[in-house]
Amino acid sequence: MREEDSFSLLHYNTFGLDMRCRTFMEYDTVEELEKIVSSGLLSRSKWLHIGGGSNLLFLNDDFEGVVLHSKIKRIEILEDEEQKDDVLVRVGAGVVWDDFVEWCVERGLGGVENLSLIPGEVGASPVQNIGAYGTEAKDVICRVEAMDVNNALVRVFTNEECQFAYRNSFFKKNGNYIVTYVTFLLKRESAYHYNLEYGNMRKALEGVKDINLKSIRKSIVAIRSAKLPDPKEICSAGSFFKNPVVPLAVYERVLKDYPQMPSYEISAAERKIPAGWLIEQCGWKGKHLGRAGVYEKQALVLVNIGGASGKEIWNLAEEIVKSVKEKFGIEISPEVCLVK
Ligand code: EPU
Repeated sequence: MREEDSFSLLHYNTFGLDMRCRTFMEYDTVEELEKIVSSGLLSRSKWLHIGGGSNLLFLNDDFEGVVLHSKIKRIEILEDEEQKDDVLVRVGAGVVWDDFVEWCVERGLGGVENLSLIPGEVGASPVQNIGAYGTEAKDVICRVEAMDVNNALVRVFTNEECQFAYRNSFFKKNGNYIVTYVTFLLKRESAYHYNLEYGNMRKALEGVKDINLKSIRKSIVAIRSAKLPDPKEICSAGSFFKNPVVPLAVYERVLKDYPQMPSYEISAAERKIPAGWLIEQCGWKGKHLGRAGVYEKQALVLVNIGGASGKEIWNLAEEIVKSVKEKFGIEISPEVCLVK
């Protein structure tokens, strides 16, 4: 276990905010987490559990509380009978998400390859119900083990109990649980159907001779790298806003003026509109406000162009929300978690 006071979070938030927390605690096992929770520390002070820090925006200059981070790194196959097509894999919350995806692809286990290169750690995957290219974490999560911070007991949640929704879950709505392990239900490649239906996936795979887990992962990595900033070069938190889901009447009203507007059908009564498109139409793509900017290749991504504070990034976000509201009458809201 590691415990440090006045700890710099510069390398623990992908927005690259140069700030500190009062205490940083990093644990390696569930038993160590149990000790921290049982000590009562979390009920005495403000606390925050982070993963890769890839979906957070700190609004204040420093975090006056405890920041927790998991280093539970175990990956184990629970049932490995050669003749079975379904394989259950239990993964520690502290495993880097993309390392897990690579681990699966290398072993011919299908289910998470479309989620290649998503930043962050496994523990955040059920919280945020991460998703990309037609797959969401909820499609492959079998159960989630999470510790109740009120009594230090681990509860096992079934997929249904996680209450998954678009970038939302029970864990996001109820901040009293810390995810320790996630068990995924994957399929052996020989029995697996690839998910290639999303947008430009088939096009991206056009020239590819053998379509398999490895080539799909390679294509997803290429699509993401072309559109999203390389975290090693530009600081961001991926998509800053959620794609708004609007009533059919609102969609039809906007479509009249913008017949080229992209959208996805959610139900007979609702449509999802890409926030990136709405923001681009408002003229924000590639624009800066102070030291915060809108990424030039994907308007859904806000970037720190160097030395920005959380407030500066939030200020830009608020201006964007305002202009989308004014132009389209649609309210967009952040996908990233705002930390006060
Ligand atoms: N679009 C624009 N201008 C832009 C950006 C997008 O017109 O600046 C249009 C595109 O042309 C396309 C549509 O919007 O017609 C959708 O764009 P894209 O396929 O890039 O996906 P997205 O809706 O912007 C979502 C997720 C991403 C995920 C991609 C691919 C959310 C909030 N974001 O973005 O997730 O990688 O789909 O599945 O749902 C993340 O959550 O951090 C993230 C990157």
